[in-house]
Amino acid sequence: MSFNIKNNVYWVGKTDWELERFHGYEYSTNRGSTYNSYLIKEEKTALIDTVWGPYSKEFVENLAKETDLGKIDYVIANHAEPDHSGALPELMRKIPDTPVYCTKNGLKSLKGQYHQDWNFNVVKTGDKLSLGDKDLVFVEMPMLHWPDSMLCYLTGDSLLFSNDAFGHHYASELMYSDLVDQAELYAECIKYYANILTPFNPMVTKKINEVLSLNLPLDMICPSHGMIWRDHPEQIVEQYLKWADNYQENQITVIYDTMWNGTRKMAECIAKGIRESDKDVNVKLCHLEKRDKNDVITEIFKSKGIIIGSPTVNRGVLTSVAAILELIKGLKFRKKKAAAFGCYGWSGESAKIISDSLEASGFEMADEVLKVNWNPDNESVEKCIEYGKKFSEKFV
Ligand code: FEO
Repeated sequence: MSFNIKNNVYWVGKTDWELERFHGYEYSTNRGSTYNSYLIKEEKTALIDTVWGPYSKEFVENLAKETDLGKIDYVIANHAEPDHSGALPELMRKIPDTPVYCTKNGLKSLKGQYHQDWNFNVVKTGDKLSLGDKDLVFVEMPMLHWPDSMLCYLTGDSLLFSNDAFGHHYASELMYSDLVDQAELYAECIKYYANILTPFNPMVTKKINEVLSLNLPLDMICPSHGMIWRDHPEQIVEQYLKWADNYQENQITVIYDTMWNGTRKMAECIAKGIRESDKDVNVKLCHLEKRDKNDVITEIFKSKGIIIGSPTVNRGVLTSVAAILELIKGLKFRKKKAAAFGCYGWSGESAKIISDSLEASGFEMADEVLKVNWNPDNESVEKCIEYGKKFSEKFV
């Protein structure tokens, strides 16, 4: 499949309906994804990015139907991660002398991954590549989301090829943001931002403002995953600015795992206390055994406060809780409040372990953790309700 986007610009990527996991097992792609590659056939022909390695042959065969491969004058590697560079070896075997444009870090990464001495050309912000009447203008985008990332802008057509920025893992052959289900699109965009871009919030704000200050006319944003932003493309830019500003909604999320339902009962009582507080706040419960971890991260992203619980096992926490704490640590959430709880039979370290981890991850912690010995009795139930209420009223 390929299609015309505007004038001499074509989408030549791959829609991956089968993708279930991304970044190894780290990111769930419940709605599949796309690897967007773009072909510009002006006086000079340029290819922007490729697709993931397993689709190399299919990609190159389809590309050859769209253009004589020998007529490709420039290959642009906006980002070296294999979901975009994976088909380069297959392609470059057929056009070995064609120049490949990338950033300085892109060069390191492409060489490190493929061990090939292609005709590399390093570009930096402001560099231009003439395609005839139109130019491609490059802007380095370090840490959006890798050190090598960059975007390029096609003058004349006013198309921004933003690579991972503004992308989302969402397969649809409709291919334009205005044609797909808006709730599904939003859900995938916020999940993508929460799970991938949160640690880079300050860089996102700085880079977007830098690009906006150039006052470039903008017709469409063409990311490397998901739908092309055709209708009011600035909508996703404005959304990114909101998300990058330590985004939060009026929500408290109670997250837990449980062995024999004691910690689960505590979670429900804490949630009851939040509901009964005089704050009109939305409370959500996430049982880690039953919820997708990336969806839980998205709920944390939306929350102004989180409360995490685990029973004590082998003087530690359940592995599902350890895993979410590790994910949280890497994402560098800021300006959020947190508390910790857990029931125990013997030693009872879990709540303190969770609290220490969240504090080290940058959360402002409640004064006390909440521990219950054995299953909560009536007195403990009241303590849990009071704990939730106090967290909501006094702290969040
Ligand atoms: Fe950072 Fe879509 O790869």
